[in-house]
Amino acid sequence: LFAGPVEFLKGVVAMDGLPPADRVEVCFAGRSNVGKSSLINALTGRKSLARASNTPGRTQEINYFTAGDSHYIVDLPGYGYAEAPPAVVARWQALLRAYLAGRQTLRRAFVLIDMRHGIKKADEEILSLLDKSAVTFQIVMTKADKVKAADQARILEQVRVALQKHPAAYPEIVVTSSEKGIGIPTLRAIIAGMA
Ligand code: GTP
Ligand code: MG
Repeated sequence: LFAGPVEFLKGVVAMDGLPPADRVEVCFAGRSNVGKSSLINALTGRKSLARASNTPGRTQEINYFTAGDSHYIVDLPGYGYAEAPPAVVARWQALLRAYLAGRQTLRRAFVLIDMRHGIKKADEEILSLLDKSAVTFQIVMTKADKVKAADQARILEQVRVALQKHPAAYPEIVVTSSEKGIGIPTLRAIIAGMA
């Protein structure tokens, strides 16, 4: 689906380390442990391209992947609770916000929401930042394999209502499970379709 293989490019720790803004760029944001790195692995069909783990705060840099020569796919550090020293967390939180607000060529931010929990206060803060920065964001529900169909409908309704007050929200919500492969082809097509 992508024009070439997906490869790790670099881990970025400061805004001046960002690669040239010369292609379509999408990023994956969300609370710590929501499943950002796992989703990138599922999307690319490579089990351990992005490092995933059960420890919140696993991803501590802005990790760039190239998909062919047309796209950057960006794995972000999580926000919210993390098992890392507070000073370290503060540094990557500042970088995360600077990136989301200031990356000119960022085409769309996929904001991941755990299907078991719905939108939390920490998510609302990020969504408001994206509104303010005029960055289109699309909600991706994760870990759908852990939620029964009836509960999924209820959570999706809560998310739809919450999105009404966010002008930067893209209306379509994607329901996924990296574990079961649910929604992965849909998400891949959305990204590959951005020329
Ligand atoms: P940070 O980098 O720490 O912010 O976390 P992350 O958002 O990158 O989450 P990561 O992909 O590392 O996944 C966190 C945990 O959730 C891991 O134990 C994954 O195996 C698990 N996980 C991720 N996606 C799914 C899913 O679709 N279903 C289930 N059941 N577990 C998942
Ligand atoms: Mg991660």
